[in-house]
Amino acid sequence: MISVSISDIHNNCIKINSQIKINGWIKSKRDSKIGLSFIHVSDGSHIFDLQVIAKKNLKNYFSEILKLSTGCSICINGKLIFSTGKKQKYELLADKIKIFGWIKNNNTYPISPKKHTLEYLRDVSHLRSRTNIISSISRIRNSVLHSMHNFLFEKKYFWIPTPIITSIDAEGSGSMFTISSKKNISTKKNIQKDYNSKYFFSKKVFLSVSGQLTLETYSSSLSKVYTFGPIFRAENSNTSRHLSEFWMLEVETSFHILQDIIIFSENLLKNIFSYVLKINEEEIFFLSNYLKTDLKNRLLSFIKNGFIIIEYKEAIKILNKFYNFSNKKIIFGHNLSSDQEKYLSEKYFKSVIVIINYPKDLKAFYMKLNKDKKTVAAMDVLFPYVGEIIGGSEREDQLFKLDQRMLEMQLNKEDYWWYRDLRKYGTVPHAGFGIGFERLLMYITGINNIRDVTPFPRTVNNANF
Ligand code: 4AD
Ligand code: MG
Repeated sequence: MISVSISDIHNNCIKINSQIKINGWIKSKRDSKIGLSFIHVSDGSHIFDLQVIAKKNLKNYFSEILKLSTGCSICINGKLIFSTGKKQKYELLADKIKIFGWIKNNNTYPISPKKHTLEYLRDVSHLRSRTNIISSISRIRNSVLHSMHNFLFEKKYFWIPTPIITSIDAEGSGSMFTISSKKNISTKKNIQKDYNSKYFFSKKVFLSVSGQLTLETYSSSLSKVYTFGPIFRAENSNTSRHLSEFWMLEVETSFHILQDIIIFSENLLKNIFSYVLKINEEEIFFLSNYLKTDLKNRLLSFIKNGFIIIEYKEAIKILNKFYNFSNKKIIFGHNLSSDQEKYLSEKYFKSVIVIINYPKDLKAFYMKLNKDKKTVAAMDVLFPYVGEIIGGSEREDQLFKLDQRMLEMQLNKEDYWWYRDLRKYGTVPHAGFGIGFERLLMYITGINNIRDVTPFPRTVNNANF
């Protein structure tokens, strides 16, 4: 007997009348008075569950099947038949049902067949992937990951795993988590006088805030590289779009300038959106109904229209003219608030926008200074409803200019000696960007709190599970 997944059945990969075996969890069950039960089973492989018909002639019908409830895990052997009901194409006529796990106490099982709020589900993160909403997001997440790697592979980019444990601040912003492990010094002989030698790595180390700087070492030889990994930021921002631990795709390309990475990232996103629309049509439909948002149109509209590009100085002109603030005007050098960013993308342009050429003091030390000596060749890609999803720039490739920026930002250039070496030995113009994976998922799924697209979110005051 072949074991199949429910997605194989719904995708018409299994012949009708085949004897098959499926495993899964009960979503809901209905018993009729005539000794017939309809059990809806899900194995998470597809948004639709499978209706199993259990008749009273089953050996354990009265002793077990009638007692089954939502959440029980079972294995069914049976024949795949066309359903006579209108709601589904196929159903499974059970010959044998084996119970793996019962629900010990129905009154305490947190996931009932009714619709739960996303806030409620956050408290039961260990069980929430059993709901249609969270499992749909999970399947879309997988498609995004797959299409991202595929796109880069096809464009002949090399994947480089960059370190998570680091001794430098890649963004120069000081929001790093410190790793505090010390060496296990047990004998007197091993005790050394040097303070640093107490640390496991003989120096202070942190969790990485970006893989970019180490990635640049490989773009300086392999030309086209990317990394995808967990990022840790100790920012005290308890908002709906900040995590302390998130994932970032970082792409770095030698001989690219700002215009190239704008085009490249736009194509990458178009590719991801098209893939999701193709592979996850049902999930997008389900989420659109659930959230009352037309996600298909959102994704198609980006595929058709792409980015609108504006300069930072244009952005502040627009805000000063049209944005309704009670207090002072924005002047060159001010950071844009998330509300101002939202106004620009959601209300003014009604589009995904790329703001370029920010004042140098608003941005990281490694960004390339423009000819005006006031701005850097940077881009922030701002999405309606979510805000910034991509940050990128050309990199400063001249050593003396890089040193000058480090000095201005009070960074110790000795700490970045190997990064500076890249500017000493065969430096090249290059550029790169980072995409916040969870924020991208928020835009694709229409979910407006980052905690709901992240299996186990870590935020200020919260590291549950
Ligand atoms: O703009 P950021 O800070 O850029 C960098 O770290 C660069 N080194 C990337 C590069 O050029 N290789 O972060 C990039 C993206 C942001 O646009 C945002 O989407 C996401 O990472 N991000 C966060 N996502 C969730 N929670 C947070 N606390 C985030 N901080 C940044
Ligand atoms: Mg940024």
